[in-house]
Amino acid sequence: MSGRHFLQIPGPTNLPDRVVRAMERGLINHRGDEMPPLLDELKRGLRRVFGTEAGEIVLSPGSGAGAMESSLVNTLGPGERLVCFANGFFGQLYAQLGRRLGAEVEEVGIPWGEAVSGDVVHERLAADRAHTVKAVAVVHNETSTGVTSDVGAVRAAIDAAGHPALLLVDSISGLGSMEFRFDEWGVDVAVCGSQKGLMLPPGLAIACLSERAVEACRQVTTPRSFFDWRPVLELAEAGILPTTPPTSLLFGLQESLRLLGEEGLPEVFARHARLAGAVRAAVAAWDLATVCADPARASSSITAVRLPDGVDAGEVLRLAKAHLDLELAGAMGPLAGRAVRIGHLGSLNELEVAAVVAGTELALAMAGCPVPLGAGPAASQRALAARWLGSPNGA
Ligand SMILES: Cc1ncc(COP(=O)(O)O)c(C=O)c1O
Repeated sequence: MSGRHFLQIPGPTNLPDRVVRAMERGLINHRGDEMPPLLDELKRGLRRVFGTEAGEIVLSPGSGAGAMESSLVNTLGPGERLVCFANGFFGQLYAQLGRRLGAEVEEVGIPWGEAVSGDVVHERLAADRAHTVKAVAVVHNETSTGVTSDVGAVRAAIDAAGHPALLLVDSISGLGSMEFRFDEWGVDVAVCGSQKGLMLPPGLAIACLSERAVEACRQVTTPRSFFDWRPVLELAEAGILPTTPPTSLLFGLQESLRLLGEEGLPEVFARHARLAGAVRAAVAAWDLATVCADPARASSSITAVRLPDGVDAGEVLRLAKAHLDLELAGAMGPLAGRAVRIGHLGSLNELEVAAVVAGTELALAMAGCPVPLGAGPAASQRALAARWLGSPNGA
């Protein structure tokens, strides 16, 4: 098909041209003198995105799940206890990884579509008077449902329970699209992958560590090798990495961090919030519901839309791709077949979102969903216009 291919899944996202060009650079000696300044720039840029002054940045080849695995094997000794607050597929994944890696995992199930609340965390940790729980894991932005949890409230609840648990946070689909305050929220490990808000191809697993997490990685005896943080930390001073990094992705990351810096992180987050608001305005105009129950907790990077009975999500995705070159994502777990997910993160602007909304509406209509044609684009346009025209109606 001619024209732009709309890849509107919640990652991988669209690659800015500048990032693509940066990755075309010839490779360098990853142990040579070009590496230390490159790594230094990447770490400084990533610290800004994570919201930390002194957090240790660990870059490894791998996907987001690799970074999650690294957060577990480096902080939990064999048989140590992890409590996962799982409000969707990826919270469940954290628990599953913990079990597979030999931790003693308690999975606290929270209904899909809801956020992890400070109350539920407080209740669980206050009950652990003997402080047998070593770490707590939560997902900042649950990609399966489009719900963002308040990580600061999670830490406040742990502290209010007087509990010393480490706080592990998956911000794989949040980082770079939504504000993250690693230091202020008292996070011990935050993990991310390259293919979402950082606007890169998949392949880099990124972690940010607090002093306590660094200490934990030195203490635990869990067998680990590829994702062992200790060699990474030992070589940090020398400005190199223990294994061959995906150098092209590092060039791309250098450029994407520059792009984020040029736009300004507050504006990047505000743009994501505006675009997400425009998508949700369309969903309301279609008289459909988002999976996210509380609008105040709605994600800025992905919206999951429930479909009416009788409308097959698979058919919506198929029609959007076949006729409009628009790729949306299916839903996961109990929502599979009953919802579609629209990714609106990374390199994206107002007119692109207008096209995504129009295309989604057309695909819904083709699949037999009773949406009044034109309602979604009009509603999202009104939501976007507020920025320039002052009121939703442009009055
Ligand atoms: C919140 C979240 N956690 C974990 C993952 C797993 O990351 P990956 O597929 O890069 O391993 C994803 C991927 O979409 C995600 O969105």
